[in-house]
Amino acid sequence: MKLFVNGKEIEVPAAAMEKRIVEFLREDLDLTGAKNACDIGACGACTILVNDEPSRICIKLVKDFAGQRILTIEGMAAPDGTLHPLQQAFVDCGAIQCGYCTPGMVLTAHAFLLKHPRPTRGEIRAAIFKNLCRCTGYQQIIDAVEQAAPHYQNRK
Ligand code: FES
Ligand code: FES
Repeated sequence: MKLFVNGKEIEVPAAAMEKRIVEFLREDLDLTGAKNACDIGACGACTILVNDEPSRICIKLVKDFAGQRILTIEGMAAPDGTLHPLQQAFVDCGAIQCGYCTPGMVLTAHAFLLKHPRPTRGEIRAAIFKNLCRCTGYQQIIDAVEQAAPHYQNRK
């Protein structure tokens, strides 16, 4: 079975098929951005994108993703390490405190902006409110998504 993770083809060993994918990413691929926090699909800290759609992976298995295109937070920056404009906006706006929610928050916002590149603040709020953040109070996160939106408007 194959997965496509951050643009790379990954051949999954048979023994890993029944493993939870959040553990496979973190332990086998060393991609630790996705967090296993609540483990019941409630908080969003484990969010990755699957074919550009957010997916909460803490309750899912590796075999559920056969042949799928996965993006984790590690795949957002450019190969030279330059942050994606949305990541940079999170930094610029002070939208990161403890950082635990941040990978899932950024990826959720990325999927949203791909579809809605000219959002209102209310639409941004609605897009991210199910990703729990204990630290920031959300305003800086909404600021960051708003700041990054022009980047998405200029995409083809
Ligand atoms: S760890 Fe998956 S939703 Fe909370
Ligand atoms: S920055 Fe700490 S939970 Fe969001």
